[in-house]
Amino acid sequence: MAQEKISGHAKVETSNFLMVLLILIVVSIGGLVEIVPLFFQRSTTQPVEGLKPYTALQVVGRDVYRREGCYNCHSQMVRPFRAEALRYGPYSVAGEFVYDHPFQWGSKRTGPDLARVGGRYSDDWHRTHLINPRDVVPESNMPAYPWLERNAANAGTVQAHMRGLRTLGLPYTDEEIANAPEDLKDKTELDAVIAYLQVLGIHRK
Ligand code: HEC
Repeated sequence: MAQEKISGHAKVETSNFLMVLLILIVVSIGGLVEIVPLFFQRSTTQPVEGLKPYTALQVVGRDVYRREGCYNCHSQMVRPFRAEALRYGPYSVAGEFVYDHPFQWGSKRTGPDLARVGGRYSDDWHRTHLINPRDVVPESNMPAYPWLERNAANAGTVQAHMRGLRTLGLPYTDEEIANAPEDLKDKTELDAVIAYLQVLGIHRK
């Protein structure tokens, strides 16, 4: 049998080391080309018009949302599909989340997406719903969160939290941070989480 010349391609395919190395190089180039521009593109780095950083009360509410694991059942991103937009409203864009650290997009939807829930219900509706969802939606399997009404909104850590968020780009003034404990006076965790829910997605109707 005539001796076959080993082509360059065959060399790559028969060497694990070369194969892994070349795959890494190709994936890195693809990653760089796709990811790096996102850090410089206006549509992904600039807030949408009217977007405001979370107030002290909303910051605490957002913490409660994460502590209680609301994200295990609720996503916060309307996908760009017709059925989604019909159900929830305009699809989400990156500029709506520039103040979210970390973002709560999620992918698990035992309950509905919450990206545009702001303003959809009254504060009283949320109050009743969070204390016992079955009081307003009889078939609901969402857990009840009655303790939120009994817990005071935690003013102890909010200033440190806001300073931390400022280092990530949220434009808080010293005055806003100084006033944070005052803003939380007499507020409960229930007030806080509702204040947070009521601003979700209201900047792009
Ligand atoms: C075990 C899953 C689960 C968890 C955890 C959960 N939810 Fe829900 N949620 C649901 C389901 C199911 C519904 C739809 C029925 C209803 O309205 O109660 C819902 C509905 C909602 C709605 C109404 C949305 C709409 O557009 O009608 C809001 C607001 C909401 N949840 C907020 C929260 C918050 C805040 C938390 C955390 C404190 C939370 N949920 C935790 C399952 C869950």
